[in-house]
Amino acid sequence: MESLQHEERTFAPPAEFAQQANASAQLYEEAQEDRLAFWEKQARDLISWDKDFTEVLDWSNPPFAKWFADGTLNVAYNCLDRHVEAGNGDRVAIHFEGEPGDTRSYTYKELTEEVCRAANALTELGVKAGDRVAVYLPMIPEAVITMLACARLGAAHSVVFGGFSSDALHSRIMDAEARVVVTADGGYRRGKASPLKPAVDEALSAGDTPVDHVLVVKRTGEDTDMVEGRDQWWSDVVGRQSPEHSPEAFEAENPLFILYTSGTTGKPKGILHTSGGYLTQVAFSMRTVFDLKPETDVFWCTADVGWITGHSYVAYGPLACGVTQVMYEGTPDTPHQGRWWEIIEKYGATILYAAPTAIRTSMKWGEEVAQKYDLSSLRLLGSVGEPINPEAWMWYRRVIGGDRCPVVDTWWQTETGAHMIAPLPGVVETKPGSSQCPIPGVSVDVVDDNGKPVGNADAGYLVVTEPWPSMLRGVYKDPERFKETYWSRFENMYFAGDGARRDEDGDIWFLGRVDDVMNVSGHRLSTAEIESALVSHPAVAEAAVVGAADETSGQSVVAFVILRGSAQPDDSTVEELRQHVGKEIGAIAKPKRLHIVDELPKTRSGKIMRRLLKDVADNKQVGDATTLADASVMDVISQSVQQGA
Ligand code: PRX
Repeated sequence: MESLQHEERTFAPPAEFAQQANASAQLYEEAQEDRLAFWEKQARDLISWDKDFTEVLDWSNPPFAKWFADGTLNVAYNCLDRHVEAGNGDRVAIHFEGEPGDTRSYTYKELTEEVCRAANALTELGVKAGDRVAVYLPMIPEAVITMLACARLGAAHSVVFGGFSSDALHSRIMDAEARVVVTADGGYRRGKASPLKPAVDEALSAGDTPVDHVLVVKRTGEDTDMVEGRDQWWSDVVGRQSPEHSPEAFEAENPLFILYTSGTTGKPKGILHTSGGYLTQVAFSMRTVFDLKPETDVFWCTADVGWITGHSYVAYGPLACGVTQVMYEGTPDTPHQGRWWEIIEKYGATILYAAPTAIRTSMKWGEEVAQKYDLSSLRLLGSVGEPINPEAWMWYRRVIGGDRCPVVDTWWQTETGAHMIAPLPGVVETKPGSSQCPIPGVSVDVVDDNGKPVGNADAGYLVVTEPWPSMLRGVYKDPERFKETYWSRFENMYFAGDGARRDEDGDIWFLGRVDDVMNVSGHRLSTAEIESALVSHPAVAEAAVVGAADETSGQSVVAFVILRGSAQPDDSTVEELRQHVGKEIGAIAKPKRLHIVDELPKTRSGKIMRRLLKDVADNKQVGDATTLADASVMDVISQSVQQGA
């Protein structure tokens, strides 16, 4: 784990920006003075409650938090109806840009009607408060409409990223016990229609799931098999519903969604988020970290709704604030490498929120590509998902932000629900590559192995020291795993799983995960999950997976595999195993490199030393191998990798 020791380039907030900024230094002071009173104020200012709450935080049974517990609200009402009631019904909520160039815009009034129709349709299918609905859709407005329809009914959604395989969908449906799946015939990716519905059919083929209804959005118009009695077209069922629906108020702690994410073991965790606290912190961060002005901004978060960033900053954050946002279906280079910049020019986007991997890819394509477009509407740039190296940060600021837009690097996780560490623009002097300091109302620290805070210029583990409103409420159906994973490493502190260091100014720099979680293009993958996918193939005896450093994607998946006796260590086996991982988990998890080896480095107690394999994958001098049961193993592996390369 390495990072720059010194970063002397800092950027004071531009005076003009600071003058109009929503945030101020006072906000930090207020939160410092009384954290709970601070969040109480945010919850009242930003959210419309049906019944007011009397208690801010109930932390009587840690680590199980309840925020604003006796208050009631409807999350969809907060994201839709209240904006219409306030006279903003004609404001565009979503400008949708399909990959082939088709477009659709929904005003807040239209979006409210669509969500009401979808809520009525789900009710017709038997969905009630407390149920779970699986959502397996491309980046199209129906994804957001379905999520909000669930929220409106008090049912929890479980969105499964459209790039995940049928097996991944199946295990998530089973764990969440979802009764309804909302999907599409397909979506457009890289210039072609890519089918989605067949994966749903496969996931349901064994007949062991509780799913009795599948709603299918027609997106590509490709031939699609429909199962009689189970599958119905969205346009038929939703289309015939009334555009009216009275939202019922639910308790603040009513589950809003489950989102599965990779952990240290092979089985993804169902991260559970609830309503009132989540929406409060998401809306607060929209206002302060993105300096959002709902009347004039055009916000664009490029993340897919299948990830937490798309939940908090496509579905809930922008709509809770009533801003206009852009939603784009496809890849950044289809049909040409300037597509993102063309979209910014077309819609006059003012705030862009993207991942470092996309920025590094654009750097590779060359700045001339972006320079062909008018990006002068932009006023703020955000980064998320992985550490942003200072050079990419500088490029982002200069080429995309025209040297005038503050860049905010936002650190957070599926588990934290919303931004946790980020400089507030207009207040904090920004520093390339660092997420810097927690947002007001959030308390974090960097601690050593014994849980003691490290000094400035030292490295350790990132912890959150006080509960926060948008925190996960648990791992679905697994309270022990929740305690064990996040709250057992250090007493009374949330263990994030990230290495971090403070620089001389006390600013926080992220150093990557300290557990067996990889970050590939800002997507979170587990080494254990890919290993178990590999060993489920009959040709594989053992497998070890590491994340190797990668210039563009941050990390890439590298696998070391021992074959069973009769299997042939040739190229077709390598390709077959890569495809197998794609089938088990999804294309994003396919190893970029797969090495067939005779042995894996193990300690005397039989634990695989991935650290040494990572050195090989990174093409580095192999580190201390003295604890290996057989010290010569690493030479053999290095040699065979070099020969294979
Ligand atoms: O390692 C951190 C990295 O992404 C992990 C969380 O992944 P996920 O739950 O998929 O959520 C990603 C989007 C919020 C973290 O544990 N990470 C996220 N943002 C940053 C980051 N690492 C460094 N800097 C960031 N800004």
